[in-house]
Amino acid sequence: MTDTVQLEQTILAEIAGASDDTALEGVRVAALGKNGSITALLKTLGTLPPDERKTQGPLINGLKDRVNAALVARRDAFKNAALEARLNTESVDVTLPVREAPAEIGRLHPITQVVDELTAIFADMGFAVAEGPDIETDDYNFTKLNFPENHPAREMHDTFFFNPKPDGSRLLLRTHTSPVQVRTMLSRKPPIRVIIPGRTYRSDSDQTHTPMFHQVEGLVVDKGSHLGHLKWILEEFCKAFFEVDRVKMRFRPSFFPFTEPSLEVDIQCRRDKGEIRFGDGDDWLEILGCGMVHPNVLRNCGLDPDEYQGFAWGMGIDRIAMLKYGMPDLRAFFDADVRWLSHYGFRPLDFPTLAGGLSP
Ligand code: DAH
Repeated sequence: MTDTVQLEQTILAEIAGASDDTALEGVRVAALGKNGSITALLKTLGTLPPDERKTQGPLINGLKDRVNAALVARRDAFKNAALEARLNTESVDVTLPVREAPAEIGRLHPITQVVDELTAIFADMGFAVAEGPDIETDDYNFTKLNFPENHPAREMHDTFFFNPKPDGSRLLLRTHTSPVQVRTMLSRKPPIRVIIPGRTYRSDSDQTHTPMFHQVEGLVVDKGSHLGHLKWILEEFCKAFFEVDRVKMRFRPSFFPFTEPSLEVDIQCRRDKGEIRFGDGDDWLEILGCGMVHPNVLRNCGLDPDEYQGFAWGMGIDRIAMLKYGMPDLRAFFDADVRWLSHYGFRPLDFPTLAGGLSP
């Protein structure tokens, strides 16, 4: 009996004296491990006569329970001490500025912003947004748009072609957003009033050209659409987009296979140390091509040119973005430089609206 009392005192003293978790684990193994002192006592129980077992059993098991409880208490004490020590050394400096949330630091690319702006403007005039694939057929990109096979006008487009298919046909990266005119006329009935913003591709690269660029196409088809409507729409668009009361535009005769007559439109601007500023000056900058949809194109898309007529335009988004926001180099648009983006980019939650203002 004194054996267990003494053993208990010894073990509890060792537990109290253990200086860290490792030492404590040593004490546990020595008492309760496979060859531990308490384990040895428990093993003797089986050899004792029943009477003695009745008295020894509770003694030894009680000893085991108390030792276990003491081990747990000591381990908890270590944990609390460690936490206490950490709390004493670590501190929060409440005077530090709060770190900005991703929605605060993230910026939208100027192209995204400009597409949102022009969508808001044209939506207000009753236009819907249409889309088409970047990979097009030769038929939609050229043939249905009245480019005859082998016509030199196809050469104006430095086209990226895919490898020919077994039947000899070749897919291509669309050189303009105009094929979506075809898709739109083939899939819905007039009256049609759509804009088509999207990526376009040409094998061309210098200070003002990149192999991938952006256009926004416009298409209106109805029974009485005419050039006067087109002119009004473009002027209203330019005033809203550049956020000015007056714009000076110049319509010049031009040629596109898919329009007749065809026009090119310049807006007045000022060039200043490599930067282009819109609104005043005595220079002109071409921003779009337009015209009345060619009767052949209407016919190719299943519309009767004696019943319907339409007008269309195609505008370079990158160019009007540079013009509006004074960005001098087109190539920077596609460099993915976060410094450029945080300078020229736009806050993601400031949606452009006509009522609330297009640009911040
Ligand atoms: N697709 C022409 C281009 O990329 C731009 C264009 C001109 C589009 C006249 C039109 C248009 O819809 O009517 O150069």
